[in-house]
Amino acid sequence: MNLWRVFFPEQASTTAGGVDALYIFLVAVSLFFGTLIALLVVGFAIKFRRRSDDEAPKAIHGNLALEIIWTVIPLGIVLLTFLWSAQLFFTVHRVPKDAMQINVVGKRWMWKLQHMTGQREINELHVPVGMPVKLVLTSEDVIHSFFVPAFRIKKDAVPGRYNTIWFEATKPGRYRLFCAEYCGTQHSGMIGWVIAMEPTTFQAWLAGGAGGGSLVAAGEKLFGELACVTCHRGDSGARGPNLEGLFGNPVKLADGSTVVADEAYVRESITTPTAKIVAGYQPIMPTFQGLISEEGLMQLVAYIQTLKPAEAAGTAPAAQTAPGAR
Ligand code: CUA
Repeated sequence: MNLWRVFFPEQASTTAGGVDALYIFLVAVSLFFGTLIALLVVGFAIKFRRRSDDEAPKAIHGNLALEIIWTVIPLGIVLLTFLWSAQLFFTVHRVPKDAMQINVVGKRWMWKLQHMTGQREINELHVPVGMPVKLVLTSEDVIHSFFVPAFRIKKDAVPGRYNTIWFEATKPGRYRLFCAEYCGTQHSGMIGWVIAMEPTTFQAWLAGGAGGGSLVAAGEKLFGELACVTCHRGDSGARGPNLEGLFGNPVKLADGSTVVADEAYVRESITTPTAKIVAGYQPIMPTFQGLISEEGLMQLVAYIQTLKPAEAAGTAPAAQTAPGAR
């Protein structure tokens, strides 16, 4: 294997170039100062060596110019590094609004992936190029970490919570997918491929898969089966908050604080309903912890995302079922 490729994998996402530039900058700064210091240590050891047994060195009481220089230059470098990496961090973690969502569940020892249209994949992920893709990650057992070197993305899949990350592939190809968190004896085998395809090829692939119904449809069915609808209705007599138009908007809680209803909030409200009580409601909802699989939870979250207020209904689910539409 090409050793260069191990340290500098192919750049195949919109953020890869930026990550590499910062990385090369850090390596260059370290190399420059590491070399400079090593040379000075050797040089000074020779230049200022003791030449006879009774030689006493001259006393030095500081040098203001020198101290200012070696304070200001490193300060400038670390501040630049901070601003640069913070800006990169926000780019990598702020998901574009129109990103196509894919759910990822880590399990010893495989990656289970599901598209919003229902297609499931194991250890393989098909994505279109030139389109932002949002990954919502969780785990069924221990902490795993979703790592695609060519895209320069790595995010933990943690049991009991959702993490998100996004990428936009720039060229078609097959890219390695790793688990980057030691998760047991077969951790090293928890690998796979991300296959980036031209959008038209991807649409054909998506249409070819069996699917088995969209995530939203499965979530709606589950919502009925679990009788969520008995309490979470639009009318005022309902015992639970109305979920229409909830997703992505701020929610006032009983303790006076406000949270934004994202995937993690909806999930927590299902598994631990008492964690965040909505203002004006009683903590009467039973927990569904352990009663719904990770996939079921993702289906419910997908369904709740599409619930729009009555007047806006009808336009919403289309965006979820057609990932190419934007
Ligand atoms: Cu999963 Cu290591």
